[in-house]
Amino acid sequence: MSGEIGFAVIGLGMGKHHCRAIASAPGARLVAVCDVDEERLNPVADEYGCERYTDYHDLLKNEEIQVINVAVPSGAHVEVSLELVAGGKNLIVEKPADIVVDRIDTLIAAAGEAGVKVGGIFQSRLVPLNIRIRDAIQAGRLGKLIGVHGHLPWYRKQSYYEGPHGSWKGTWDMDGGGSLMNQGVHTVDLLQWLAGPVASVMGMFGVFGHDIEAEDQTVALLRFANGALGTLYTTTCCYPGYDQLVTLYGSEGSITKLEGALNGWKLTDDEGGAEEAELMAMYGADAAKGTGSADPMAVGFDGHTQIVADMVEAIREDREPTITLDSARHAVEIINAIFESGRTGKEVKL
Ligand SMILES: NC(=O)c1ccc[n+]([C@@H]2O[C@H](COP(=O)([O-])OP(=O)(O)OC[C@H]3O[C@@H](n4cnc5c(N)ncnc54)[C@H](O)[C@@H]3O)[C@@H](O)[C@H]2O)c1
Repeated sequence: MSGEIGFAVIGLGMGKHHCRAIASAPGARLVAVCDVDEERLNPVADEYGCERYTDYHDLLKNEEIQVINVAVPSGAHVEVSLELVAGGKNLIVEKPADIVVDRIDTLIAAAGEAGVKVGGIFQSRLVPLNIRIRDAIQAGRLGKLIGVHGHLPWYRKQSYYEGPHGSWKGTWDMDGGGSLMNQGVHTVDLLQWLAGPVASVMGMFGVFGHDIEAEDQTVALLRFANGALGTLYTTTCCYPGYDQLVTLYGSEGSITKLEGALNGWKLTDDEGGAEEAELMAMYGADAAKGTGSADPMAVGFDGHTQIVADMVEAIREDREPTITLDSARHAVEIINAIFESGRTGKEVKL
């Protein structure tokens, strides 16, 4: 159809969410899907009535495809993406943009040279409650930020780490870690997006409940550039999986939330608590949606749909996508510094 932007998806695990998102996003059309695994490829191509490829290089020959969503294992994101931007395609790259910051920087430069747009995925940044919290912080309503805390007690069965699509998970080479890089990167990004950049970290990590290489439990101390201190906890060992807890303490109040549900909005300038009551009605526990605490596919695809729609607009308006790779790289930088600290026993400055 004329006017629609043609999309393709590579990697049909989480990539299935991308297909649903593209089908739902105004102005987007799914032209093709690609996976080396035909057992995954064929049902998805049949469902959407789109073209199918087992070799992603073939996507470059299809001129109807303007945007490619890259949802292959994390350690291959930049390797695959570099060939696609060289072929003139715009990209949406799953989180983490890659597991190595230098590679992300190479992709940012390559996209600039090729004149294409590359966006990242951190759907938590699009959640209205999170935007409201960030606005309050940026308006100075929490006063001086003191404490910034993220807690992700999730659960994954051993089978999650096994089989043809599980064995890369929890490895250093392809996942860049485990609970922190794979599951926890959203929490890390959310903390830095809300509270600003991290200046230094200390970390400890290990394997506690699975037969994997990298880590399934990490704890870290964070020193933010604005002086706040923070703690971070990620695991996939915590049966049956509890919601992410984020708390922010400032000199003028505190905000606490459990995944999508607001728990407390106590700001000194909200005398009488009228704003808190209004926000609890909008974002309290009753309004909370499904999370990935126990099931990776339960994260929903609303955020992905917004990201696809944003890319459509970015192309039409010739602007940057809302979640730039430049902004997505700091989370990876923080995570790798935590691992370095865990290995050396020293505070690592960023
Ligand atoms: N945004 C989110 O909330 C979210 C949630 C889960 C996963 N993810 C991200 O999505 C990515 C994929 O994770 P997953 O859990 O779906 O993994 P997965 O292993 O289930 O799926 C990856 C797919 O990519 C295919 N693939 C691998 N190399 C390929 C190649 N060269 N060409 C074509 N296909 C290839 C595999 O066959 C597989 O089907 C990861 O980067 C992960 O971090 C994001």
